[in-house]
Amino acid sequence: MHEKRIDGKGLGCRRQLIQRNATAPVLRFKAWMIPGAAGMLAALAAWLMARPTARQLALRMAEKRHWESEVRRLRHCERLTTEALHHCTGVLRLIASALPVGVVAIDRNARIELWNHAAEAILGYTAEEMIGQPAPTQVFMSAIDGDGDGDDAGAADVFLRMVTGQSVKSEEVTCRRKDGEAVEASFSGAPLVDDDDRVQGAICVFEDISHRRSMARALHQAQKMEAVGQLTGGIAHDFNNILGIAIGNLDLLGEELRDTPSARTATLVDGALTALLRGAELTRSLLAFARRQPLRPMMVDVGDLLSSITRVLARVLGEQVQMELSLEPDLWPVVADPAQLEAAMTNLAINARDAMPAGGRLAISAINASFDDDALSRLPDVAPGDYTCIEINDTGTGMSAEVLAHVFEPFFTTKEAGHGTGLGLSMVYGFARQSGGHIQIYSEPGIGTSVKLYLPRATGKAERPQTRQRRRAKGGGETILAVDDNAEVRSMVAAQLSNLGYQVLEAGGAAEALAALERHPAIDLLFTDVVMPHGMDGFALAERARQRRPGLKVLFTSGFPGTTLSNRCELTGTDNFIGKPFRRDDLAQAIRRAIDQERGRK
Ligand SMILES: Nc1ncnc2c1ncn2[C@@H]1O[C@H](COP(=O)(O)OP(=O)(O)O)[C@@H](O)[C@H]1O
Ligand SMILES: [Mg+2]
Repeated sequence: MHEKRIDGKGLGCRRQLIQRNATAPVLRFKAWMIPGAAGMLAALAAWLMARPTARQLALRMAEKRHWESEVRRLRHCERLTTEALHHCTGVLRLIASALPVGVVAIDRNARIELWNHAAEAILGYTAEEMIGQPAPTQVFMSAIDGDGDGDDAGAADVFLRMVTGQSVKSEEVTCRRKDGEAVEASFSGAPLVDDDDRVQGAICVFEDISHRRSMARALHQAQKMEAVGQLTGGIAHDFNNILGIAIGNLDLLGEELRDTPSARTATLVDGALTALLRGAELTRSLLAFARRQPLRPMMVDVGDLLSSITRVLARVLGEQVQMELSLEPDLWPVVADPAQLEAAMTNLAINARDAMPAGGRLAISAINASFDDDALSRLPDVAPGDYTCIEINDTGTGMSAEVLAHVFEPFFTTKEAGHGTGLGLSMVYGFARQSGGHIQIYSEPGIGTSVKLYLPRATGKAERPQTRQRRRAKGGGETILAVDDNAEVRSMVAAQLSNLGYQVLEAGGAAEALAALERHPAIDLLFTDVVMPHGMDGFALAERARQRRPGLKVLFTSGFPGTTLSNRCELTGTDNFIGKPFRRDDLAQAIRRAIDQERGRK
């Protein structure tokens, strides 16, 4: 400060200022260059006036102490705040790392600053690899920018929206893991903004929804198969009845023609029969797919069965295809219909052969397999427990994911007309499901296909399926009561039975049948349809009939047995059932067996 002029007013002002401002320095003294003794005096006076008093000094000391303690208090507060902040950050990191969803935090410089354990697990990149990377980094972008299969918004796009200040809620995207595998994830996130609405970073949370999505797809697929099964089963059942009548009548006609030989008519009848039998084969496949084919489940040694059909399979495969069979020792026996298991294996072998036109290798193996709850959570519709797994691997063309998604549907085929019916795998599927088992199929285009067929383990020792001897089974004049609500079927059956040498009585329903049993004590066998209207089905009829006539022999028939029937057949033994449509010879055998059974057995 420079004073040009000295006067009482100027000095007075200065002192006042010093006194009022208690925080001013204790001693403030400035000398002015004022010439002369008056000047010296004035300076001295000024000094004396400016010099703090003892009270002022004490005040200032107190003030100093106050500020020092204030500084200490603030420092303490600062330490506490830092500690609390550290603690909070630690807790937040802990929460983030423990969360089952992926959490990524981006700082204001758009660098990744947090990458939790779940993010590591979902995308396969470690926190070490990711932290500090610029957010839209190549690695991260390639991680989240999956193959974008149509339904998905681009993951990179979703992410960019987040870091540029937009919120994102449950956007489902397909990402690619570090190991290349696709993973479906749901992204949510929000930018972090300051008071001035400037983006200071972003928090992004994502969840692996592959499992949920695959469960939903599997459920959808199962529902679709169920619906198609219902439809197919219904049509096949009605067709089966019609075919049964036609086949039965033609069989009778053929029998009559035997006595009046006419080569031309016999050829015509044979032609018609052949076509009808092909139709019956087709309806059988459809019923199999719909899980409504009459099964004769029994205990089967899978190893024995596979060994015994290798020659048949080798013939199917031709010389170009090399076949290998490997069986785990001590394979569990299964409960299944051996004839249908053979048919399933044949269908699978035919598919393998068709997929290896230039030859290749077909490996069939069988192992014991148990499903626990964990494995099951990935496979809907499979009961936990023990299974025997038959695996069929080929080195053929394989299938695209597109084809693979449809292979079990009936009539789905990629083969030229006349080469494929599209019923092979649908039959195997239905057979596996109806047997309480399960089928899985994996395929890689250009590498090959692997089919795994799981059949439920049987408890007890396996029986070798009996090969039934074909003898001409004729009737010996025994009396049979034939019950069927369909008049055409009934009269055809009656004609066949009397042709075979039996006495036949007919009934159009359960009530009529019970009345006939009252009237005719000589009835040896009740031959009844299972599904009949008016409340009482074939099983109920048999039960009521046996109450009146204990030990009465019964043979059931149906083209549409449903699950009740296969269960009941298991309970009552499999010898008393014949599936529709049946050939005359099959009927003859079944009737003979049922009548010749020992008394007491159902
Ligand atoms: N082992 C296999 N290798 C390659 N493709 C297969 C295999 N098995 C089945 N497929 C595919 O699945 C489709 C359906 O099979 P399937 O139901 O047996 O009917 P079909 O054999 O009459 O076509 C086939 O047309 C084929 O495209
Ligand atoms: Mg096939």
